[in-house]
Amino acid sequence: RKSFTIAIDGPAAAGKGTLSRAIAAHYGFHHLDTGLTYRATAKALLDAGLPLDDEKLAETIALELDLSGLDRDVLSAHEIGEAASKIAVMPAVRRALVEAQRRFAAKEPGTVLDGRDIGTVVCPDAAVKLYVSASPEVRARRRHDEIAAKGGSADYDAVFEDVKRRDERDMGRADSPLKPADDAHLLDTSEMSIEAAFQAARSLIDAAL
Ligand code: C5P
Repeated sequence: RKSFTIAIDGPAAAGKGTLSRAIAAHYGFHHLDTGLTYRATAKALLDAGLPLDDEKLAETIALELDLSGLDRDVLSAHEIGEAASKIAVMPAVRRALVEAQRRFAAKEPGTVLDGRDIGTVVCPDAAVKLYVSASPEVRARRRHDEIAAKGGSADYDAVFEDVKRRDERDMGRADSPLKPADDAHLLDTSEMSIEAAFQAARSLIDAAL
């Protein structure tokens, strides 16, 4: 049978990454954090000292991207996330990356893709769609604690403003804005542990397998 795809969307710092990795490990599926494809494209431009507002240039980089070399640690920097959300508004960049993401999604026996537009655009026929959200306050708190745990210093108010700005850019863009697919299951993790979110996702997936 065809590959079984699980689409996980939601705003920044809602917990989709942790949840996606746990699901992929549990079912033995391939996992792609599609945010890394936008980040890697942005980082290549930044590293080469190239402008972030040249769509043709960004498209060329996106078309050459090798999905097997994506390294979360190298791509996690805040400036890279900011740059990624800027080039993510460009239709030619999205077209190139979505193409690569769809090829990944077809891997057997199954795949988990997480991002902003997986259930709506990349894999509209996914077997299971989850939309993982949490209030901006909770997401800012989590992001803040994450930075602190790594020994960094972060100001909660600055992180909160950042989360809101990223939401506006991701939800407000014309091409593939962040929103739940009509057939997505909504999972609000504001008051849920990672374990509880995983169990909720598992019962939805088991019912579709
Ligand atoms: O999830 P992450 O913070 O790594 O994503 C970085 C940026 O890439 C997001 O703010 C968003 O603008 C963009 N992105 C996107 N579509 C996806 C994944 C990420 O537009 N499927």
